[in-house]
Amino acid sequence: MKLAKSLLIVTAIIGFMTSSSFAAEAELVREGEQIFMTKGAGNCLACHAVNGKEIDGPGSLGPKLQYLSAWPEQAIYDKIYNPYTTNPISVMPAFGINGWLSDGEIKAVVAYLKTIK
Ligand code: HEC
Repeated sequence: MKLAKSLLIVTAIIGFMTSSSFAAEAELVREGEQIFMTKGAGNCLACHAVNGKEIDGPGSLGPKLQYLSAWPEQAIYDKIYNPYTTNPISVMPAFGINGWLSDGEIKAVVAYLKTIK
């Protein structure tokens, strides 16, 4: 009886932890999408079409972002932090080095981009 009760408690705790970490991940993805789309934050949409969204006008300097779910998280992070490591003549700004996005903000954008098929 005692064992059954503690098992129940353990299951409840694990259940709570998994559902709350799902919620935290969803929140991170939402924050990343916000940064991606917002002028004055990432404003990535100015150069990158994604998920059928793009800005009309001269933008589109960068490639349409797709299949990023297949990239390792670290590779996406590094690209945003400093694009020149993979492409020395990139016109993409170095959001990390320039201090435009914090470590946490870049991680949020990475979480969002990992959802891009
Ligand atoms: C001024 C235009 C510009 C902005 C703003 C910009 N990028 Fe880029 N980005 C580019 C260009 C051009 C490339 C392709 C050349 C290269 O790989 O460096 C690129 C490449 C990328 C790649 C690699 C894509 C691939 O398929 O190889 C990723 C990922 C990326 N950008 C993410 C972002 C994110 C996230 C933001 C916003 C925080 C952003 N970019 C903002 C121009 C831009």
